[in-house]
Amino acid sequence: MDKYVINGGHPLFGEVTVSGAKNAAVAILPAAVLVKAPVRIENIPDISDVRHISDMLQYMGASVRLVNKTTLEIDTTHIKNIQPPYDMVRKLRASYYFIGALLGRFGEAHVAMPGGCDFGTRPIDQHIKGFEALSADISIGEGGIVDATCKYGRLKGASVYLDVVSVGATMNVMLAGVLAEGVTVIDNAAREPHIVDLANFLNACGADIRGAGTETIKIKGVDSLHGCTYSIIPDQIEAGTYMALAAATGGRIEVKNLIPKHMESISAKLVEMGVSVTELDDSIIVEKGPARLEKINLKTMPYPGFPTDMQPQFGVLMCLADGASKLTEGVYDNRFKYMDELRRMGANVSVDGRIALIEGVEAFKAAPVSACDLRAGAALVMAALATNGTCEIDNIKYIERGYENFVGKLNALGADIKKITVPDGPVLEKAN
Ligand code: EPU
Repeated sequence: MDKYVINGGHPLFGEVTVSGAKNAAVAILPAAVLVKAPVRIENIPDISDVRHISDMLQYMGASVRLVNKTTLEIDTTHIKNIQPPYDMVRKLRASYYFIGALLGRFGEAHVAMPGGCDFGTRPIDQHIKGFEALSADISIGEGGIVDATCKYGRLKGASVYLDVVSVGATMNVMLAGVLAEGVTVIDNAAREPHIVDLANFLNACGADIRGAGTETIKIKGVDSLHGCTYSIIPDQIEAGTYMALAAATGGRIEVKNLIPKHMESISAKLVEMGVSVTELDDSIIVEKGPARLEKINLKTMPYPGFPTDMQPQFGVLMCLADGASKLTEGVYDNRFKYMDELRRMGANVSVDGRIALIEGVEAFKAAPVSACDLRAGAALVMAALATNGTCEIDNIKYIERGYENFVGKLNALGADIKKITVPDGPVLEKAN
């Protein structure tokens, strides 16, 4: 098992360059299934979620060629196998984008229910509702396989109102609608930057999608798509994590290669906590002085609200703030499991459902902790870096799903973090 060993207490200083957006990449790669020609995708992050999607594409018969460190050329012309195996699918949430893309291209898809981070129930009923509106028949078969078939061979455009604002459902219905006959309208659509990025990629391939980034998206179906070269946007959450790291460790970090507009809700909350945030054209400088962070109230919401994927990182900042903060999770039922780990580090937190009340402490105490999901893992790294002492963090495979070269980027900022491999302990038999 791999672990991080972190000697904390060093403020982070310097520059860090943000990689391509995970949640855009994991949708744009499956979207290549809709294009019967090579597509060249630039600014791809080197993270395990992307490697899993790329493995699935190759399993299905696509050619995936690494052009350089951050560019892939994908050609799905000769895809034959449209049923990626469960062992691959369960590794990540974004596998569900293959349902929309395969259904759009072949009128058929058989993909297992996806895996991903555990934040309570994460249904895909809104995806299914969208596919059904576009005339697909959906059933959940043996082993949790989503069997999707189109009775007319080609999907038919339709109006879809999403009952909850869902990133995944918005992108999946968009994928299904691109090659459908007629017009698809998605109402109450999610507006995250990666939704605009997926639409821009598809439009660069000849799709006709308007309104991405607003709550109504209109897709005029086209007969086919052509190849293109496309560059993925920078990762809003990776950028936000480094901004929060400057605040947690009391340093000064210039976070480069980001889109400041995407960072507005995060920048505003840092300023409210007494942190200096300076916006430049495509970078942001975050600097924290000697005063303690100020307490805040914060609620996560779909974009342009404060992102749920930054909730654990701000949970850490609130633990270090002067006074009592209130943190409300507005997207998921259960995204506070990491608070148990922070309590082991001395945090004073009480959680009731979707609300955490956090009484700030002067400092965290060193303790061994375990990452329970991707962003929670990043938050524990933040807490450890802000601690005077040595912390070990295990289950780091979650963190490596979404942060490119985390250890290298942190050490370049003056952190003392290393990855070690320890032999797995004996497996204990369960009593029953
Ligand atoms: N929901 C439903 N029915 C659905 C779909 C969603 O009830 O059919 C609910 C969910 O249970 C949740 C809410 O709607 O309460 C929002 O879920 P959404 O569908 O927006 O989330 P997602 O598409 O599964 C993506 C990101 C997550 C990020 C959320 C919210 C990917 C692969 N994942 O998940 O990213 O938290 O949007 O912004 O894009 C991460 O990067 O760490 C991560 C978890």
